[in-house]
Amino acid sequence: MTENIVWHHQKVTRADRAAPKNQSPCLLWFTGLSGSGKSTIANALDVALYDRGYHTFLLDGDNVRHGLNKDLGFSDDDRIENIRRIGEVSKLFTDAGLIVLSAFISPFTSDRRLVRNLFPAGEFIEVFMDTPLETCERRDPKGLYEKARAGKIKHFTGIDSPYEVPERPEVRLDTSTMSVEECVERLIRYLLDRQLIFSPPQSLQR
Ligand code: ADX
Repeated sequence: MTENIVWHHQKVTRADRAAPKNQSPCLLWFTGLSGSGKSTIANALDVALYDRGYHTFLLDGDNVRHGLNKDLGFSDDDRIENIRRIGEVSKLFTDAGLIVLSAFISPFTSDRRLVRNLFPAGEFIEVFMDTPLETCERRDPKGLYEKARAGKIKHFTGIDSPYEVPERPEVRLDTSTMSVEECVERLIRYLLDRQLIFSPPQSLQR
């Protein structure tokens, strides 16, 4: 389909765009069961980075499924397409020089690998929300586990649709034992150690 389309190289590179932001573009990919804390931690990290003056963008499953991906459901094929599109969108935002935070269940290893392969080494950071299913189900923030157990939602991840556990995530967080602050601190430390963010600029008070 792309045979007659030629890639056009842009004059302003992603490095040019990122440099004045005191950061190196990257994608933090939060994966895990519904209720494992993906959105909570991604949002808290987003706030923490924003407050320190970094330029971020947050993509979240429930929100993206209201717009760009509202034509997709939860069959295996639709989830694959969901993640493919999010991967491409995440790539575009990193090309704009941003630190991107994406929070999607992304249950399949092969799809997460596909997204990883869109990025240079070190720029894709898989953050596995390793919160036990029992905890996610007890929290049941949207009442969806209850519906799934009652058979009112089909193909619910962790119940009657699989979640393939990441084998070598860059960061592993368990929100049943770690506080939100601890998780955020761990991620900021990771970004500083890998020189994806540089000595934090003066904190902007909110
Ligand atoms: S993914 O599997 O394709 O990566 P995504 O992260 O976009 O999923 O969307 C998950 C959100 O959709 C959940 O947080 C939940 O609120 C809602 N949802 C609705 N139906 C399902 C389902 N069958 N399985 C999982 N999540 C569902």
